[in-house]
Amino acid sequence: MSAAKKKYKRITTKSLFEMKANGEKIAMLTAYDYTMAKIVDHAGIDIILVGDSASNVMAGYETTLPITLDQMIYHASSVIRAIERSLVVVDLPFGTYQGNSRNALDSAIRIMKESGGHAVKLEGGKEIGESISRILTAGIPVMGHLGLTPQSIYKFGTYTVRAKEEEEAIKLKEDAKLLEELGCFALVLEKVPAKLAEEVAKSLSIPVIGIGAGGGVDGQVLVTHDMLGMTHEFSPRFLRRYLDLYVEMGDAFKRYISDVKTRNFPNKDEQY
Ligand code: KIV
Repeated sequence: MSAAKKKYKRITTKSLFEMKANGEKIAMLTAYDYTMAKIVDHAGIDIILVGDSASNVMAGYETTLPITLDQMIYHASSVIRAIERSLVVVDLPFGTYQGNSRNALDSAIRIMKESGGHAVKLEGGKEIGESISRILTAGIPVMGHLGLTPQSIYKFGTYTVRAKEEEEAIKLKEDAKLLEELGCFALVLEKVPAKLAEEVAKSLSIPVIGIGAGGGVDGQVLVTHDMLGMTHEFSPRFLRRYLDLYVEMGDAFKRYISDVKTRNFPNKDEQY
């Protein structure tokens, strides 16, 4: 059992600060449904992210843009019913917070009220500073997200590593500092050079959770379906697969199909 699992019966934003201060790495995974969230929570994960990656993983869209606030609330409320210990962070979907801080606050309040989530995550820096501040004034904890921000994929044009050039790296560092000053409790850095991510993590007192950002940050996040090997078409360098469930589940389905076809299932003990 990890030190954090022994020490914290429930993870709060305060526990995460303490973990950073004590040098204990933070483990975060995604979940979008009750059954997966229960397994992940019982395993001792610190943060469950109800990511808008549900748009890709659950609904099969090419990007995260189509998922709606109602759909995120449905996923988040399913996760909340499963968990006992983890902090549950819910992504605000595309179009529900950019450009209008009143909308941003309304969206965050709907997430908190209707799903029971514990915090929200928003993508971006200075451009959405006003939205972040307004959400924070309502007492809703906010996690930031910089680097590769998938809701801006049509601006970037590709999913390659961000902030390799000095100008973008400087903006990322300024944005990270601003998010801390505004009051975000943590920050996700996605697909940026490890050296830059480490520098940002060292310069902030809030925890920095990386995905494709190297080992010098305060914690790691992966999409659960990717690390279990359920998704095969996606193989970035940063992804460590802990199982090959695409193959294992496929084998189980084939065995079931064969058992049904050959009348091997159900047998006498499997009927009433
Ligand atoms: O939506 C998501 O799963 C995310 C992670 C990749 C950080 O934002």
